[in-house]
Amino acid sequence: MKISKRNQFYVNLAIKDLDFWDIACDHGQAGYCAFLSKKFNNIYFVDPVENILNQTEKNIRQIIDLDAQSRLHFYCLPGQDIHHKVEGNLLLAGVGGELSKQILLSLLSRDFLKVERIILSPYTDLKKIGVLEADHHFQLHYQKVQETSFCENKRERAIFIYDRKK
Ligand SMILES: C[S@@+](CC[C@H](N)C(=O)[O-])C[C@H]1O[C@@H](n2cnc3c(N)ncnc32)[C@H](O)[C@@H]1O
Repeated sequence: MKISKRNQFYVNLAIKDLDFWDIACDHGQAGYCAFLSKKFNNIYFVDPVENILNQTEKNIRQIIDLDAQSRLHFYCLPGQDIHHKVEGNLLLAGVGGELSKQILLSLLSRDFLKVERIILSPYTDLKKIGVLEADHHFQLHYQKVQETSFCENKRERAIFIYDRKK
């Protein structure tokens, strides 16, 4: 599977020896890259489009060793509906700012957002990230530690990194 430099860049920003959640995974490039790096524990792939997620799971499962299969988890549902403690690293890239905000606030309000690091790279509507950052509940648990970007096809993709407050 081909992994874009952008997705490799995201994975390099994650904290090793923890889980890695690739939410809005599409073809699972970031999650698969995280798996190949051998730096993470469980890898979670989340996407609501059934045929995409099924194909992603099939593609990845057929190229990895049998003993690693149990560390990979595939959830076909919108990120807002995840009903599972989300721990380790959360990558949310390639969706709009409004949806990014909705997913994170939904997890937070249901007490499922437990990750040490959030890596956000919305494609549009960056203003909504400001709304997320101003949210009282979000501010209580997370602080921005870095703002960077990655240039892909002559377009600068913003990246925001938040760590859980100690
Ligand atoms: C452009 S792709 C991004 C793929 C990858 N994260 C990247 O940055 O290269 C957007 C993906 O978001 C998924 N998506 C749409 N709504 C979603 C939601 N509510 N929760 C999670 N994923 C969603 C789509 O199905 C699609 O696969």
